[in-house]
Amino acid sequence: MTDPQSTLGSTDQVERPGSVGIIGGTGALGRGLALRWSMAGIDVRLGSRDEARARDRATALGEKLQNRPGVGKITGGTNRAVAVAERLLLLAVPLDGLDAALESLHDLMDGHILICAVNPLMFDDRGPLPAPTAGTSVAGSVAAALPRARVVGAFHTVSSRELAVLERPMDDDVPIVGDDGEACAAVAALADRIDGCRAVLAGPLRLASSLEALTPVLIAVNRLAGAHVGVRFSRLPSTAGVTDAR
Ligand SMILES: NC(=O)c1ccc[n+]([C@@H]2O[C@H](COP(=O)([O-])OP(=O)(O)OC[C@H]3O[C@@H](n4cnc5c(N)ncnc54)[C@H](OP(=O)(O)O)[C@@H]3O)[C@@H](O)[C@H]2O)c1
Repeated sequence: MTDPQSTLGSTDQVERPGSVGIIGGTGALGRGLALRWSMAGIDVRLGSRDEARARDRATALGEKLQNRPGVGKITGGTNRAVAVAERLLLLAVPLDGLDAALESLHDLMDGHILICAVNPLMFDDRGPLPAPTAGTSVAGSVAAALPRARVVGAFHTVSSRELAVLERPMDDDVPIVGDDGEACAAVAALADRIDGCRAVLAGPLRLASSLEALTPVLIAVNRLAGAHVGVRFSRLPSTAGVTDAR
């Protein structure tokens, strides 16, 4: 389902997003992506349950980038304030905080593009494994809980540890799943803006569970190899499945 009257704004904003909000932006993934998007000139609003924490974290991230030219502004606010201010949002809360986060956003969603990066992950004595989810996938549950949001699954496999090493470009494909073509295109443009990331359109939202289940595999590989691996799709023709909106 593609909404021709995009509430995201202009075509330019879809092809070259100028700003993004992060729900749960004070965490490891939110901070890492905020740094990388800011380095690409994108303004970032970090959201938190606690406004003061969001502001502190935003200031600290801004200080890390202060001598770099052309960076986007990083600001902080409550998750609700961020959702009011931004049409393009990343959901970066842990699975056990998801219901509370969705509840707090429910009345604010109105055509927002909501990227779900939440991995259903648990550990037992043999290592990581996918955690059971209420619906078919976490992203599917988000879409069911927030029918007025345009939910896209992405950024499940990028490492917050790697994002934080600013001297090194990323080396990651970013698989994207969703049922709304324009929303997926906007998310792809956002992924492509990160140095070293390549967006890969990976099918409808019903495949989100497969994407969400990759992370336990990556963590198991990391433990065995002592690395922070990501994913790369080999032999992908540049004309199919890939977007490059840079
Ligand atoms: N870390 C990674 O490398 C990585 C990579 C890909 C995907 N992910 C996924 O991205 C999500 C965030 O990961 P993370 O490592 O950044 O997590 P995190 O640091 O544990 O948490 C992120 C933020 O979520 C908020 N939060 C925590 N509990 C909450 C609750 N009960 N209700 C509402 N908000 C809550 C907190 O912000 P406030 O306390 O300020 O509100 C916290 O700073 C997870 O679902 C994870 O599976 C992580």
